[in-house]
Amino acid sequence: MSAVVQVAVHPSQFPAQVRRDLLASLRARRVNHKFHYDSLRQTQQWLALHQVLSPSRTDPNCAAIYDQGFAAAVSGLNAGRVHLVGLGCGGGQKDTRLLQQLRDAGRTVFYTPSDVSVAMVLVAWQAARAVLPAERCFPLVCDLGTADDLPAALAALPVGAAARLITFFGMIPNFEPELILPRLGALARPGDGLLFSANLAPGADYDVGMRRILPQYDNAPTRDWLMTFLLDLGVAADDGELRFGIEDRPLRHGLKRVAAYFHFRRPREIRVDEHRVAFAAGDAIRLFFSYRHTPALVRELLEEEGLNVRGEWVAESGEEGVFLAGRPAGSAAG
Ligand SMILES: C[S@@+](CC[C@H](N)C(=O)[O-])C[C@H]1O[C@@H](n2cnc3c(N)ncnc32)[C@H](O)[C@@H]1O
Repeated sequence: MSAVVQVAVHPSQFPAQVRRDLLASLRARRVNHKFHYDSLRQTQQWLALHQVLSPSRTDPNCAAIYDQGFAAAVSGLNAGRVHLVGLGCGGGQKDTRLLQQLRDAGRTVFYTPSDVSVAMVLVAWQAARAVLPAERCFPLVCDLGTADDLPAALAALPVGAAARLITFFGMIPNFEPELILPRLGALARPGDGLLFSANLAPGADYDVGMRRILPQYDNAPTRDWLMTFLLDLGVAADDGELRFGIEDRPLRHGLKRVAAYFHFRRPREIRVDEHRVAFAAGDAIRLFFSYRHTPALVRELLEEEGLNVRGEWVAESGEEGVFLAGRPAGSAAG
């Protein structure tokens, strides 16, 4: 059999579209977080920092909440055939553990590792190959923020009748909730399981919890990873300063997030093909944000999309939670 891997690419990640998105990010001075996973170097930097900093990799109790969530998701499915759709799959480590549990429970598993990055999708594909054969794996590159026809694209995959389990691990923090939650709602059909994780603000006091987790972002490996985006565009590290802070979002939910901005101390022009975007001394560009939820906020936000939380598992540290949600039987996808 040929060693060639077939990867489907949605137009949302065609080069001309990615160029337009990049220019839009620079002009708006708000970087779409997909641009931090674009190059091989960024992918490697992120995978390395995730391995040393992510509680799911470093805290056995945090890893355990994933296994508990996986067990509940597996036991909640009656079907013999299960299609796992990993949205923003990254290196696919979590999805592969879930695939293993499904296989060990006697299910025939199909897998769609989906991500904005071709490199990530291929890393996830390789990890999953330990559990399922290549012909049951359908890698899909797409931008979840803009691919409006994702429900149809998933329905067109040659999977046949199967229950669907959608994973969305570590993704909710990096999207504006009003953008991503309706999209998740539109994807989840009655009977589908939605398993996702959220970074939480630990403790009873939201502000204190936010200050406690700030060093998980404001550190050397994360700074290096985020700066790669600007350095690759010709910005010099000493053109300015990267600063992290805590922001309140003026939403009715009162969500808070960690955000990182690069503040220019001297003028700099960035060129993208024939386009130029000028930054003056004193300008700032937002490179990153990460919302920290509370379990109550997660439940509230999902309910607005007609999704019910069926189970939740919070790490003893209070810093990460795994949630199993779904659309009640008899209701339509949003
Ligand atoms: C924080 S990582 C989470 C990876 C993995 N789910 C995990 O928990 O280990 C975010 C992932 O989302 C992907 N991503 C970022 N923006 C995206 C977008 N707009 N659409 C699809 N994937 C995106 C990145 O390439 C990266 O792999």
